[in-house]
Amino acid sequence: MKIAIIYFSPSGNTHRAAVELQNELVKKGHGVSLLNIAGNSGFFGGKDISGFLEENVWEHDALVIGSPVYAHHLQYHVQDLINALPAPGGKWGKNAFTFVTYGGISSGVALKEAAALLKKSGRRVIAGMKISSPHRMTRGFMVKEYNSEKFAGGMPAEIGKFAGLISSSLNSKGGKENKRAFNYNGVKTDLFAKFIFKEKEWHAKRYPGVMIDESKCSACGVCVKNCPVMHLAKTGGKITWNNDSECVHCLNCVTNCSKKAVYLTGDLEKGKAFMNKMIEKNGNKEKPETGIYIGVTF
Ligand SMILES: Cc1cc2nc3c(=O)[nH]c(=O)nc-3n(C[C@H](O)[C@H](O)[C@H](O)COP(=O)(O)O)c2cc1C
Repeated sequence: MKIAIIYFSPSGNTHRAAVELQNELVKKGHGVSLLNIAGNSGFFGGKDISGFLEENVWEHDALVIGSPVYAHHLQYHVQDLINALPAPGGKWGKNAFTFVTYGGISSGVALKEAAALLKKSGRRVIAGMKISSPHRMTRGFMVKEYNSEKFAGGMPAEIGKFAGLISSSLNSKGGKENKRAFNYNGVKTDLFAKFIFKEKEWHAKRYPGVMIDESKCSACGVCVKNCPVMHLAKTGGKITWNNDSECVHCLNCVTNCSKKAVYLTGDLEKGKAFMNKMIEKNGNKEKPETGIYIGVTF
């Protein structure tokens, strides 16, 4: 059987999870295609996401969507992606799965949002998985990347179980829907996500700004190559901003610059204090930290 995995991995964790899932599914005899939209000019350069997906996603029996959790939410480009999915039928399968990677603070409402959007697209959401992962944003301005040990010993075994679920669902029909499967974080998290953790607003106003010190920059283009949303470009021998695609603060540009020419501005001490408070209060407190939720039982 065939499975298509489409995902957005700005800084590698979601990609690692997708590759592990692919390996586990291949071991079970399935064919799996991976499509990472990070840095993909077809997705970020064009205006027609549905057309891009139609062209780049292969015929499948099950579709899997992967995303990082950003500010408690399903990263907004993945929301756009799901909203642009062609309806099931033809090469597009009806059965869907979703997984999110999060930095151990809160997986928020991301799985719930993914499931609701996939359902709206006409799909059956059979299961979702959250994966506790290194917190990629913290590597940009904290002493140590939070949760960096999470993948140190390899990827979590639950990914194998998730692959098993996908595999065993492929021939199943019918089943009973569990409407509240993805509500595991409760009402308080819903309210925080809705009224406080507003991802787009935080990118615009709250997260540290990313700047380039031209006196240090050699315009080598490493930052451009590593920018998952094509916000950076190289024009006339200089690094420039492409404001058609906003920065998502993955901080790849900052951490990969060997000249330290890309740097963060804003009140970083306040940012650190906020993050430390979040870690102290919520760090690795979701139980289970990595887990699978069943949307349809057979
Ligand atoms: C802008 C931004 C916001 C984030 N927000 C959260 C969050 O609300 N909760 C959390 O636990 N982790 C959060 N993280 C950590 C990421 O979810 C985590 O590192 C994820 O695995 C990154 O996936 P990627 O490596 O595929 O980009 C955030 C990271 C970034 C860069």
